[in-house]
Amino acid sequence: MIPQSFIQDLLSRVDIVDVVDRHVKLKRAGANYVACCPFHGEKTPSFTVSPTKQFYHCFGCGAHGTAVGFLMEYSGLGFVDAVKDLAQSVGMKVPEVRSELAQRKAEAGDDLYGVLLRAAQYYRAQLKDAARAIDYLKRRGLSGEIAKRFGIGYAPDGWQNLAAAFPDYNAKALATAGLVKVNEDHRRYDVFRDRIMFPIVDVRGNVIGFGGRVLGEGEPKYLNSPETPIFEKGRELYGLYQARGAIRRAGRVVVVEGYMDVVALAQHEVEYAVATLGTATTPLHVQKLLRQADEVVFCFDGDDAGRRAAWRALENSLAQLVDGKQVRFLFLPQGEDPDTYVRKAGKEAFETLIAGAPPLSRFLLDELASRVDLSAAEGRAAFIHQARPLLKPMQSNALRVQIVREVAALSRLAPEEVERLCELAPMVTRTRTADPRSPRMPQAPLARQLLRLLMGNPKVASTLSSEQHALLSSDPELAPVAALVELLKNSGATSLGVVFEASRDSNYADIYEAVAGETLLAAGSEETVQADLDGVFAQLELRRVQSEYTRLCASGGHSESEQLRFQELKRRLAELKGVGTVNVRSQI
Ligand code: GTP
Ligand code: MN
Repeated sequence: MIPQSFIQDLLSRVDIVDVVDRHVKLKRAGANYVACCPFHGEKTPSFTVSPTKQFYHCFGCGAHGTAVGFLMEYSGLGFVDAVKDLAQSVGMKVPEVRSELAQRKAEAGDDLYGVLLRAAQYYRAQLKDAARAIDYLKRRGLSGEIAKRFGIGYAPDGWQNLAAAFPDYNAKALATAGLVKVNEDHRRYDVFRDRIMFPIVDVRGNVIGFGGRVLGEGEPKYLNSPETPIFEKGRELYGLYQARGAIRRAGRVVVVEGYMDVVALAQHEVEYAVATLGTATTPLHVQKLLRQADEVVFCFDGDDAGRRAAWRALENSLAQLVDGKQVRFLFLPQGEDPDTYVRKAGKEAFETLIAGAPPLSRFLLDELASRVDLSAAEGRAAFIHQARPLLKPMQSNALRVQIVREVAALSRLAPEEVERLCELAPMVTRTRTADPRSPRMPQAPLARQLLRLLMGNPKVASTLSSEQHALLSSDPELAPVAALVELLKNSGATSLGVVFEASRDSNYADIYEAVAGETLLAAGSEETVQADLDGVFAQLELRRVQSEYTRLCASGGHSESEQLRFQELKRRLAELKGVGTVNVRSQI
């Protein structure tokens, strides 16, 4: 956990305009900056960055957030990494209460990155003088340009070549990085010998491991770096760093099985491909990919092993599926892999295959149906039985509804019966993680207005009177507002960006997130904020007094105290009607 106070400190030091501008060129437009949105295709700029609010919002696709959120979305970084990147850019150091893994990472950390980078540079330099290796790559159809783009190198034959590349061949980090091993005589030797070297790079461009291929025949064909504190195979994807731009432009990412597939596809201008690292696709992989593109296409060989691997990928995708995103499965013709196919048939043919690849739902239903005899009751029962563990992890969204319908049709049941038999939770209002861009909205317009005013102008939270506080806590509809006021007072936040990050862990985070985007629309100047705020509170009070008055009228109200209250309410009503609506501009 990174302390909240640090995030606030950080956000007050970085300027979101600089951060965004490093990746997307911004143009000044009045008080804000604009650009064509990097998160969806558009020709006229609706992506807006506010320097005063320290917040971005796209009026086209609804993407919005702070500098941290921008880095997460744009670079596919996790929260912690995005914060670290930002901190580094302004020379701040992230204080952390570290998890054990993070602790190990930090201890080995810088050292390992440095060692791997140096090794990568060494292997790359060696390739220049290795005619055999160059020849091998050429025969596989790769240009020097592509080899350079992927940092491909060559580990020469011999047992201790790395000794020439490192000042201390016995350094601990070389062994931790998986570059050297120790033999029975306690002597070190290079792990990668006479191999083509594919550096594995994380999303920030750090070398975190290698895949090494023999030239021609030989066992093992590929030698991969072991997992280390900085390299987890279930988390990383080969080629993602190089593919990011193309993935964003295409709105799509293709996941293949091998290093050579990624590289060969790039050679043929299919630049949005990545590979898993000799392991099954994990939920984390899928999550990472769906963050960068709306469409993920898994590409497998058409054989049994390929279908089994595809099924694993399907199982690990189910929980990650949100409406608006899709996963598809491409099975290549027998005996082909993406490398051989694209070299033979070319980019267009490959992209035609992609375009025709069945969506996850099709693959799921066809595969299940092929396992049973749907013409018999027993077969249909088995069908439901097998569908259950697949439907259960899915979020209760429109896609699940669609699949349930098809399962129902095939098994001759009503969709509700399928839902019951599979014990599916009914469709509910989305949880925050389901789809951050279409959250539940507070229904009350006054609550919305208050949220907008407070988030856009956090400082006014401390000016609220005790009557205003009382009003907030008197109405359950205003609970998100009351919670926000607390949060603002405790955090001392001064800009929308800071408020936004501070509210991530709140119960109402999804509401705040939705409203945050709207505040960029609000042109409200500093001077009018206080008046606007008072206006909204006056309306709230009017509403409360009115309802009490109505209740009292309905109950008859004959006792002396009731009579007094009656008079009091009447007076207050008259007062409020005089001022109540004056200051509330209709479209704050
Ligand atoms: P090429 O023969 O170079 O075209 O290899 P490929 O990309 O077609 O590889 P293949 O389909 O045989 O394997 C896919 C991936 O599995 C590779 O990129 C490696 O990550 C991994 N892999 C393949 N062979 C081995 C091996 O012998 N050992 C290990 N550890 N991993 C392997
Ligand atoms: Mn191959």
